[in-house]
Amino acid sequence: MSCDLSVEIAGLRFKNPILTASGTFGYGLEFASWFDLGRLGGICTKGLSLEPLEGNPPPRIVETHGGMLNSIGLQNIGVRAFVAEKLPKLRQFQTHIIANVFGSCFEEYLEVIRILNDAEGISAYELNISCPNVKAGGMEFGNDPDEAARLTEACKRIARRPIIVKLSPNAGDIVRVARAVEEAGADALSAINTILGLSVDIYTRRPRLATGMGGLSGPAIKPIALRMVYQITHAVRIPVIGIGGIATVEDALEFLIAGATAVQIGTANYYDPLASIKIIEGLKRFCEQHGITTIRSLIGSLQMNERLA
Ligand SMILES: Cc1cc2nc3c(=O)[nH]c(=O)nc-3n(C[C@H](O)[C@H](O)[C@H](O)COP(=O)(O)O)c2cc1C
Repeated sequence: MSCDLSVEIAGLRFKNPILTASGTFGYGLEFASWFDLGRLGGICTKGLSLEPLEGNPPPRIVETHGGMLNSIGLQNIGVRAFVAEKLPKLRQFQTHIIANVFGSCFEEYLEVIRILNDAEGISAYELNISCPNVKAGGMEFGNDPDEAARLTEACKRIARRPIIVKLSPNAGDIVRVARAVEEAGADALSAINTILGLSVDIYTRRPRLATGMGGLSGPAIKPIALRMVYQITHAVRIPVIGIGGIATVEDALEFLIAGATAVQIGTANYYDPLASIKIIEGLKRFCEQHGITTIRSLIGSLQMNERLA
């Protein structure tokens, strides 16, 4: 008996609920020699900005227990080069391309979306709101529910494709931000981005990253991400894509059962380029072994102890 792995998000049908996470899968094409990208539910591109960015000085990645800390600084080739050089090749694969968008102010987000609006082969936009708002003293857009909502509303007004807002775990109350951006018109949410962390070199007594602090990702953050996804899915009606430390099929299943409609694989791609494919195959096997005919029947099926819910 085969299992139907398809899910629907923002009116789009995904052949399976496994996507790759922004910034951990290049522009997708880097992985095309490893497997047919068309086997993925979707690919979230590296974050795209209006102008190319070189990112932060090295060292900008350090390994930590069960994860890694990065301060890449959103290095990318810029949205125009993405559309001209990467997208024509990427759209030949039978998968959803989700363009991850960011800017240092509202107008930059809007300009990136305007340029992408005219490009063929993109299914949705994912707004990275975990970046500093230069006009608001460098505070992350995603830390303030009102600011996140205003940005979502502005993007939604001009976007010709669905908007997925990617939430920051560094917000004081991620659930409040989730509700605010839903209200502002977001079609779906993804959660979580990296968690702000610090690693210290005890000999030099300096931070290991050139920029000081960085974003923690990988298996170390999974329980936090899972808890947040559970709370968010119970607070909003729009679909939530779970992200954070997913490395095995069991991890992906936990997120689906906790309420995520799909998941993204991030840091695992760094040490196993086939991680997402192994998880897709693992999902099929799990469903067959347990008589599950549709993956949708698992979504949100968590039986939480009532007193703890
Ligand atoms: C090196 C690196 C670069 C990243 N770049 C982006 C980015 O450009 N845009 C974005 O929204 N998230 C970015 N992320 C966050 C990931 O997409 C993901 O949300 C996070 O790493 C948690 O998932 P994981 O534990 O599976 O890696 C980046 C993460 C890493 C490790």
